[in-house]
Amino acid sequence: MNALPPADQPDPLAAFDALRTPEGSALLDELRDHDPAQELATATRLRRAHPAALVSAALGQARLRQRAVAKFGEADAHRMFFTPNGVEQATRTSVAGYRAGRFAELGVRSVADLCCGIGGDAIALARAGIPVLAVDRDPLTARVARANAEALGLQDLVEVRCADVTGIDTAPYDAVFVDPARRGGRGRIFDPEAYSPPLSWATEAALKAPRAALKIAPGVPHEAIGPQAEAEWISDGGDVKEAVLWFGKGFTPGTFRATLLPSRTTLASDGPLPAPPVGPVGRYLHEPDGAVIRAHLVAQVVERCGGRLIDETIAYVTSDAPYTSAATASYEITDQLPFNMKKLKALLRERQVGVLTVKKRGSAVEPEELRRKMKLQGPHAATVFLTRVAGAPTMLIGRPVERP
Ligand SMILES: C[S@@+](CC[C@H](N)C(=O)[O-])C[C@H]1O[C@@H](n2cnc3c(N)ncnc32)[C@H](O)[C@@H]1O
Repeated sequence: MNALPPADQPDPLAAFDALRTPEGSALLDELRDHDPAQELATATRLRRAHPAALVSAALGQARLRQRAVAKFGEADAHRMFFTPNGVEQATRTSVAGYRAGRFAELGVRSVADLCCGIGGDAIALARAGIPVLAVDRDPLTARVARANAEALGLQDLVEVRCADVTGIDTAPYDAVFVDPARRGGRGRIFDPEAYSPPLSWATEAALKAPRAALKIAPGVPHEAIGPQAEAEWISDGGDVKEAVLWFGKGFTPGTFRATLLPSRTTLASDGPLPAPPVGPVGRYLHEPDGAVIRAHLVAQVVERCGGRLIDETIAYVTSDAPYTSAATASYEITDQLPFNMKKLKALLRERQVGVLTVKKRGSAVEPEELRRKMKLQGPHAATVFLTRVAGAPTMLIGRPVERP
């Protein structure tokens, strides 16, 4: 049973239901483009015509929708509903759609989405044509997930159940998807056994199903990944979003994969790669995508570009010949000098650099502080890499090479 909220706080379920009444919907429409800086004035105006509790729920929801645009896009975010944790933890459309596509390609016809949150993954699965049982134990979150399925016209494909996932019989489903909660009261949880439910429970549930996917933090130690899983790190627009462990027919246990959205470029290996060569900085520097680094596939980039690492502990790759790929950001290097702020300042002044991008790996220097000290002036742009070359603190200066 839910504990009753204190008398001065509205029941969150009732407050949410009020948003779905015609009056609530009209308020949300009105607040679509509202400026958060004007919130006080807006609230005062709206309270003249609407109950204060509804106005405050609508303003809260309008804020969450604005935050959700980055993950769900304008059109969906303004039709959907969110909770603060729900928007934070939801999978973005690009990644959820990619994963749902992998299930659909294998002919999966039903999925139990255990830990559905506000429904980011359930929506993508339904849009891939797969019926979903979406389960969350938090009553408000489950209600929001149901509202989202309805708002997007997917109610016939998504059944939402408010329950603890540990009591769900997944036998009738072709596949199981688990996205455990990874945030406790004090922020992010790094130990996979502290997830809710723990990774060991999720793995057991996965192994019982014909096929399964478990979403985990991208920083998960490789040792925590069992031999039965294909592990895939996914980035979107160059930012690593998650790791997913795939189980069952159609996946390749022991494979480590990096998939880069939106291009869907994928690199994979079925075992640890030999250590790549290390050598002097050439004309080009390549920064591998974070998913490639997390999946321990930098050696493949080194091989593809015919290059070498600049330091055995640093994920910067260098080559003499030009090379571009979706898996790397590449730069043409114009200068290499030992780390020295004064020399850097002089060089940037001489080159009339007014816009400096600072990249660093293996350096403790704060980019903002460096930029401030450089007192930049001039019409040109440059990129500086603060790093180590063969163990020595080094500055590399260059400019981006556009991908064709
Ligand atoms: C990371 S979120 C899921 C996000 C979702 N995949 C999405 O894209 O919107 C995890 C959810 O698991 C739920 N949860 C945690 N432990 C649970 C359990 N034992 N049973 C059911 N739900 C649980 C939490 O309430 C939370 O909403």
